[in-house]
Amino acid sequence: MTPFGVYVHVPFCASRCGYCDFNTYTASELDGSGASPDGWLEAARREIAMAARRLGPRPVETVFVGGGTPSLIGASRLGAVVEEIRSEFGLVPHAEVTTESNPESTSPEFFADLRSAGFTRVSLGMQSAAPHVLALLERRHTPGRAVEAAREARAAGFEHVNLDLIYATPGETDDDLRRSADAVLDAGVDHVSAYALIVEDGTALARRVRRGEVPRPDDDVAAARYELLDDRLHAAGFGWYEVSNWSLPGAECRHNMGYWRDGDWWGVGPGAHSHVDGVRWWNVKHPARYASLLADGASPSDGSEELTDDERYTERVMLRLRLAEGLDLGLLDAPGRAAADRARGEGLLRPFTGGRAVLTRRGRLLADRVVTDLLTAAPVRS
Ligand SMILES: C[S@@+](CC[C@H](N)C(=O)[O-])C[C@H]1O[C@@H](n2cnc3c(N)ncnc32)[C@H](O)[C@@H]1O
Ligand code: SF4
Repeated sequence: MTPFGVYVHVPFCASRCGYCDFNTYTASELDGSGASPDGWLEAARREIAMAARRLGPRPVETVFVGGGTPSLIGASRLGAVVEEIRSEFGLVPHAEVTTESNPESTSPEFFADLRSAGFTRVSLGMQSAAPHVLALLERRHTPGRAVEAAREARAAGFEHVNLDLIYATPGETDDDLRRSADAVLDAGVDHVSAYALIVEDGTALARRVRRGEVPRPDDDVAAARYELLDDRLHAAGFGWYEVSNWSLPGAECRHNMGYWRDGDWWGVGPGAHSHVDGVRWWNVKHPARYASLLADGASPSDGSEELTDDERYTERVMLRLRLAEGLDLGLLDAPGRAAADRARGEGLLRPFTGGRAVLTRRGRLLADRVVTDLLTAAPVRS
């Protein structure tokens, strides 16, 4: 049976970080719209009940509450969402139940309440240990608060804690990133996600880059920083299991593995995406519209598509090649296999063992190019 997870999107933030284009709203942006955390919770519960009616019995293996800033709405609302999922679907024994949190809206009591509500994993956005980098990213917390929050989560009984980093921000130095890696390791977490800063269209950062106030992040710098971070984490016993994710053995995020291995998930909340049995759909983005549709007993879906065989093939190659477990070479046909042989010859894939294509470290830096080569060589498959 395909693994099944539930993603829950919390669309609220205290302020908007200059680089972020996620579907999230500040209080002033929602002013007058009627949207509120309680309205969101009621609507999310309705959507969970609707999902359970639609899918029938399907125990949930993983829950991931993301955002936005889930910690902003408090542990009791987050707990209520988990309770609704438990009562409507049921959770498998040892289900993984994660929430993202921002360091500045957490406390020891918050983490203790999350534990009591059944959460098993916390993911905190740290981004950097350098104050000037956090300032450029327009983060609201100090570097110290992120590390402290990770320690508080562990002290509250969370065995699984992730810290997110962003690297290659303009103005960041190699030493800044070394200090960020050391701070993450000091915090005693078992998982790290790290992304090169992307300048997303329509963000405040993109406008600053366009005006020449901030230089554009440099690809070569990003590649060197990735290697620096990978070395540091590797030396501390962390292995990469996806190009942007490292963990101690056994601490991989099961929910995200579900996305990458073609699993099924229902996305609850404004703008959330779902994927069940080869059909993909997405919800309306605005929290007020989302809540009003559900209050009327209507579906919050804003569109759907059935994936064609070509699309499924593309997704499989794209996502699985980024995993350390690699891509089954049997999925590729002759032209795709020939492209994989060429990539291996160029040192982008490891020598094939167990019939799998696995990226080398240089290949991880050029993962998009390898994926494109494999796909353009073998465009049609089931
Ligand atoms: C959208 S946030 C949601 C969780 C939480 N609000 C936070 O800020 O940590 C999840 C993660 O996405 C990453 N992210 C968001 N926008 C990004 C961008 N433009 N470039 C690189 N990473 C980004 C950050 O590492 C962030 O921690
Ligand atoms: S706190 Fe997280 S979700 Fe909110 S704006 Fe910042 S990066 Fe985006």
